Amino acid sequence: MKVVQTVQQLRETLRDPRAAQQSIGFVPTMGALHDGHISLVRQCKNRNDVTVVSIFVNPTQFNDRSDLNNYPRTPGRDLDLLREAGCGIVFMPDESEMYPEPDTRSFSFGALERVMEGLHRPGHFNGVAQVVTRLFQMVAPHRAYFGQKDFQQLAIIRKVVKDYGIPVEIVACPIVREPDGLAMSSRNMLLDAEQRSHAVLISQTLFRAQEMAGENSVGAVRRFVTGTINADPLLDTEYFEICDDTTLQPVQSWEEPGGKVGCVAVKVGRIRLIDNVSFSS
Ligand code: PAJ
Repeated sequence: MKVVQTVQQLRETLRDPRAAQQSIGFVPTMGALHDGHISLVRQCKNRNDVTVVSIFVNPTQFNDRSDLNNYPRTPGRDLDLLREAGCGIVFMPDESEMYPEPDTRSFSFGALERVMEGLHRPGHFNGVAQVVTRLFQMVAPHRAYFGQKDFQQLAIIRKVVKDYGIPVEIVACPIVREPDGLAMSSRNMLLDAEQRSHAVLISQTLFRAQEMAGENSVGAVRRFVTGTINADPLLDTEYFEICDDTTLQPVQSWEEPGGKVGCVAVKVGRIRLIDNVSFSS
């Protein structure tokens, strides 16, 4: 496995495989890797000749300074996990490599950014689009892999790729969960033991909501989820929305056409976790 820090080294490393018409798959991450990330690496390896993983904690997507400062960083362990997974190239730029000049670009995502994470984390998706478009330019992958754990991020990336005509295939990968159901997240390692034991209620409630959906209205399911999670003194729901899985706009009734997804953001103490489940049969 080759670890590179600069764009120049990255381009040199990719020159031969590109000249040999090999397919290049890309998995962007912010490190503190877990099995969710590794599942993306595996899916990437399955379909591409070369797998590139980037590790960069992108400051422009953090709307909260303390969240950026507290974000877990485990570079040594990340490299061990990637080596074990058979990753070919790891790109670990520092901030000056990624942003030689401040990025002043402003993206618009239309209605996609006026809901959920877009509403509650102003500027977050603009920062995601800044870094992901830069990474796409640097790596120039044929395919890029994103987890459905960040459901709205995936929709935003698809829109940016379409709007700017970026020649990359976006591949969506299913959520990987802990054995008890909690969605894997780098932020889980910030939870103390008590918070961790309560956090499982988030996914448990979403799974119960899925079962209820047949016989209960959208409104009733929505009230059930927020009520159940908020009844736990350690958990506080920021939002729960049942929305169209393409437009991400809230739905009022199960009869509306299209697939549906239920997305939640919950504060566990100062840690903010997100999760989602499908409501399509
Ligand atoms: P990060 O949170 O490190 O996630 C990197 C990728 O792993 C994302 O596509 C995310 O959806 C996926 N992922 C995280 N947890 C997962 C899980 N439990 N199951 C499946 N996939 C999971 O998302 C980011 O970084 C950043 O915003 C980034 C796209 C790298 C831009 O900075």
